[in-house]
Amino acid sequence: MKPSIVRAIYFSPTGTSRSGAVAIAKALDENAEEIDVTVAGRAPERISFAKDELIVFGAPVYGGRLYRGAVERFQQFTGHKTPCIVTVTYGNRDFDDALLELKELAEALGFVPVAAAALIGQHTYGQIQVGRPNESDLKEDREFADRIKAILEQNRFEGLEVPGNYPYKDGGHRGKFRPQTTDACTHCGVCVRECPELAIDPENPEKIDDSRCIACFRCIKVCPVGAKNPNTPEYVAFAEGFTKKLEKRRENQYFLPL
Ligand SMILES: Cc1cc2nc3c(=O)[nH]c(=O)nc-3n(C[C@H](O)[C@H](O)[C@H](O)COP(=O)(O)O)c2cc1C
Ligand code: SF4
Ligand code: SF4
Repeated sequence: MKPSIVRAIYFSPTGTSRSGAVAIAKALDENAEEIDVTVAGRAPERISFAKDELIVFGAPVYGGRLYRGAVERFQQFTGHKTPCIVTVTYGNRDFDDALLELKELAEALGFVPVAAAALIGQHTYGQIQVGRPNESDLKEDREFADRIKAILEQNRFEGLEVPGNYPYKDGGHRGKFRPQTTDACTHCGVCVRECPELAIDPENPEKIDDSRCIACFRCIKVCPVGAKNPNTPEYVAFAEGFTKKLEKRRENQYFLPL
């Protein structure tokens, strides 16, 4: 089959999962569209997909699983035997059961996973694999897309296997660190709008609702004046050792039907 249209659907607070999913989608179809479900409550343009379309799902690994909020956002979509590619992006520790979870979630929603990838992205915390995915990672993603094209042309939609265990490990929870806000804050509202869980007080962006914040650090990334940072004493103490522990580079892994 040749898909009538390719779409990347992703949850991606700091953008690394988006990079991989979009690189693959655009290599399959230069006019590929994006559906970004990172921020809660933003209604996507399309929720139902046909058999002749192709979806590339992307999400980060949180504690070896998909973040639960990402699962909820993906659950609004329905496929009708729609082929898809499932990708998870992880910060150089491990993806554990997250790729299997995304594959099985897509199947349960009516999609047919034809290929999968576990990709490396800079870890949210510490200084781990900084800048990844880099140009060489994205080149690998595009080469993977070329192999997917061949599989689609042959209509080889069955036999995809990905690593993972049952029962899935406990994971997918929010992180425990909370961003700090400095006096540099101009109350521009960017972080308020971009927080995936609407945890930042619109009246006072220094105030973060602890019960909503998932420690994704998107607010640190999007703040135009650098007014948010992660540097609580607890975080600083953790980050150095964590960076050292995960310094050994891991590679992207790609999976196609046997
Ligand atoms: C709460 C939380 C848990 C995480 N758990 C893992 C993990 O289990 N394994 C791993 O390698 N990386 C883990 N990471 C790192 C992210 O998977 C990684 O940074 C990813 O590239 C972030 O994706 P994004 O840029 O699309 O938001 C975790 C990050 C957060 C915030
Ligand atoms: S306030 Fe928490 S949940 Fe919201 S963007 Fe910042 S780190 Fe993420
Ligand atoms: S994005 Fe930065 S400057 Fe704007 S409200 Fe948030 S913390 Fe303040």
